[in-house]
Amino acid sequence: YGTSTISENGHLTIGGVDTVQLAKKFGTALYVYDVSMIREKARAFRSAFEREELNYQVAYASKAFSCVAMIQLAEEEGLSLDVVSGGELYTALQAGFPVDRIHFHGNNKSEAEIRMALDAEIGCFVVDNFYELTLLEQLAEEKGVRANVLLRITPGIEAHTHDYILTGQEDSKFGFDLQSGQVEKAIQSANGMNQVHLLGLHCHIGSQIFETTGFVMAIEKIYSYLSKWYESFGFQPEVLNLGGGFGIRYTSDDEPLPVENYINAMIKTVKSQMTAGMRMPEIWIEPGRSLVGEAGITLYTVGSHKQVPELRNYLAVDGGMSDNLRPALYQAKYEATIANRMYEPSDHLYSVAGKCCESGDMLIWDCELQRAIAGDTMAVFSTGAYGYSMANNYNRLPRPAVVFVENGEVSLVVRRESYEDLIRHDMPLKQAIIS
Ligand code: LLP
Repeated sequence: YGTSTISENGHLTIGGVDTVQLAKKFGTALYVYDVSMIREKARAFRSAFEREELNYQVAYASKAFSCVAMIQLAEEEGLSLDVVSGGELYTALQAGFPVDRIHFHGNNKSEAEIRMALDAEIGCFVVDNFYELTLLEQLAEEKGVRANVLLRITPGIEAHTHDYILTGQEDSKFGFDLQSGQVEKAIQSANGMNQVHLLGLHCHIGSQIFETTGFVMAIEKIYSYLSKWYESFGFQPEVLNLGGGFGIRYTSDDEPLPVENYINAMIKTVKSQMTAGMRMPEIWIEPGRSLVGEAGITLYTVGSHKQVPELRNYLAVDGGMSDNLRPALYQAKYEATIANRMYEPSDHLYSVAGKCCESGDMLIWDCELQRAIAGDTMAVFSTGAYGYSMANNYNRLPRPAVVFVENGEVSLVVRRESYEDLIRHDMPLKQAIIS
């Protein structure tokens, strides 16, 4: 697993750092990222493109995990950045990310968010719908600036993944519908606008995808329209953004493809679909999960233990759906280990419970683990994407800290929330009345 090894005293180490000591020093629950693994993934994506000698951008989808240090790491690795809200944009700006490589997503960007992005002069807006297109034109005109635009299209492709994270199918809240002529209409209207420069098209077919087929089908579908539009009104995209969604390994049942397989399939399909006279567009992608997912683990301290005779062994940890919503929300599966007993056999069957007041707060059902007692450190793997970013304060649990480890060095990149943080925005009863 990544750069993890086992130390002589049987402790799990990651990035050259003892996880049991991390737990002791920073407390639990704790997110730990193996920075070298994030770099490795970023480089794999980029070198797949470099081999093809075409213009490209690999944008990190910061919704997967956003904090100042992560954005700075993305910059160091030559990535672009996908943001989906004023908050993600603010984080990127505070991190000093190059604005021309920021792409702004979202199906309901507010006026304030659009203004903020225009003021920052970001690289491009991924426009989701007609309302936004008109609003953007207006606001850009007010400011006397020109906005680069990709139109997000819904290609009508169903990728095989969990329903909630499927996005490319026809009946989706995202994007202009391809089948019904909305995309053509949007292209025409963007082309007629003064403050909008139409760069090209965007699509994202879903998340945690393990095959290249969905991407190939989406490209074929898009090109079946593009060749018509090229012939009838000379439209050619400068940029084709094919989204993210590349699958990762959560458990041994998952078999992700090497990232170059996706890139190669994409480029090959685009080339095969272009009709005579068309030029090769820049290919952009925006992976989130595949850049950070496997690089993150969560450390917990084992606490209470409950045995239901002949049925189940519950083992509770000091976190749960507040730091990892994915099992409760998507029935997502994870694997774990007892980080201070790495040399002991995994001959116990436990179901790992969180500490929230909710029966559904189970992190892992039926997990083979080493014998575990209160005070042990548990590591849950592959929690780097949509873990911290979807963390919440349910039951008023403070959000955990985040540390980066690399070559034996540790840095605290997000401080643990305190109880004071939890009531920071609360007002006492009397003061709360506004008449
Ligand atoms: N681009 C767009 C337009 C997206 O909507 C997404 C993810 C991505 C890129 C990045 O996808 P990735 O490479 O990370 O799969 N919370 C869910 C995942 C939601 C994904 C939303 N959009 C989860 O925990 O599985």
